[in-house]
Amino acid sequence: MQAVQELSSAGPIIVMEANPRSVPSPEEIVGTSSALRRVLGQATIVAPTDAVVLIQGETGTGKEAIAREVHKLSARRHRPFIKLNCAAIPSGLLESELFGHERGAFTGAIGQKLGRFEVANGGTLFLDEIGEIPLELQPKLLRILQEQEFERLGSSRTIKVDVRVIAATNRDLARMVHEQRFRDDLYYRLNVFPIHMPPLRERPEDIPALARYFVDRFGRRMHRNVVTIPSESLAAMQRYAWPGNVRELSNLIERAMILSLGPTLDVPLAELEQTKSPGLPTTGTMTLGQLERATILGVLEEANWLIAGPRGAAARLGMKRTTLQSLLKRLEIVRPA
Ligand SMILES: Nc1ncnc2c1ncn2[C@@H]1O[C@H](COP(=O)(O)OP(=O)(O)OP(=O)(O)O)[C@@H](O)[C@H]1O
Ligand SMILES: [Mg+2]
Repeated sequence: MQAVQELSSAGPIIVMEANPRSVPSPEEIVGTSSALRRVLGQATIVAPTDAVVLIQGETGTGKEAIAREVHKLSARRHRPFIKLNCAAIPSGLLESELFGHERGAFTGAIGQKLGRFEVANGGTLFLDEIGEIPLELQPKLLRILQEQEFERLGSSRTIKVDVRVIAATNRDLARMVHEQRFRDDLYYRLNVFPIHMPPLRERPEDIPALARYFVDRFGRRMHRNVVTIPSESLAAMQRYAWPGNVRELSNLIERAMILSLGPTLDVPLAELEQTKSPGLPTTGTMTLGQLERATILGVLEEANWLIAGPRGAAARLGMKRTTLQSLLKRLEIVRPA
C-alpha cells in the first residue's frame, strides 16, 4: 500500500483506460428460478469474504452481472470495481495491463503506467475470460493471488496490494488443465469458490420476468410504453433454446420493441423457430432433464396449457393428470402470465 502511494505521486502516470469502469452498474439481477436463487445465495455467502470467486457458464448467462453483485455485496463496494477482459488484449500486452510498467521498460513504454492490480487496490478486480491468459503469464498471476505482491515491468521494486479477484470464463477450465493448456496450481487457486451460471434454457421460468424487465428498460430508453407481452410469445420464448442466453433475450426484446407499433409487444416469432421443437433438441447436448422439460413445454403449448381431459396435455403425454401435475411442480413449470 505504502509503495503504491509513494509511486502514485512520483511522476506522470498513464492509466490504461480513459474511464475504467469502477462504478457498479445499476442493473439488477432478475429471476426467481431455484437455479438463479442458488447462485444469488452463493454470491451473498462469498461476498463478505475476500475469497477468489470463479464464475463459469455459457456466454450471456450473467457472469459479469454476478461478479458486480458480489462486489456490491462486499465491504469493498465503495472502492473500485475494475474489469479486464483477458481475451480483448493482445497477449504480449497483457502483462503490462495487469502489473503496469515503468518508463522505458520496453520499446514504446513512453511513460509509467499503473496495472489493473494497482488501480483496483482496495477494491475488486474482475478478470474476464481468464481461460485466455497465456501459460507463461500464469505463474505471475498465481503469485499475486497468493502473496498479493508483484513488480511493475522494468522495476525490481515489490508492490503490495489488497485486491479481491473475481474471475470468469465460458471455457471448461478443468478440461484445459487436463489438456495442459491451463496450469493446475493456478486453477486450484482460482477455484476456491466456484459459481456456475445456469444457461437460460434450464430456467425458462425466469423468462417472463426477464422479458418484462427488458421491455420496461428499453421502454424507458425509447420513451415507449409497451403494456402487453402476448402469452403465445412468452410460451415460444420459453421453448426456445437461447444459445446466447440472457444477452440474446435482451437483444430480441430490443428488436421487438423497435418493431412494435402499439402497446402490445410484437415478438419476431420466426426467429425463435429453430427451437428445441417438442422432444427434439437442436443442440444434441441436452440432458435428459432438459429433454423432459422441452417435451412437456411443447405439449403444454400444443394443448393450450389444458392439462386434463381427452385433449389435455396429460392425455397427449399418456400420463395421469395428477402425475403431470406433480411433474410440473417438480420442474417448476408454470403457465406464463
Ligand atoms: N438475471 C439477469 N437479470 C437482468 N439482466 C441480466 C441477467 N443476467 C444477465 N443479464 C444481462 O444480460 C447481459 C449479459 O450478461 P453478462 O454480460 O453478465 O453475461 P456474461 O456471462 O458475462 O457473458 P459473456 O460470457 O458473453 O461475457 C447483460 O446486459 C446483463 O446485464
Ligand atoms: Mg462477460
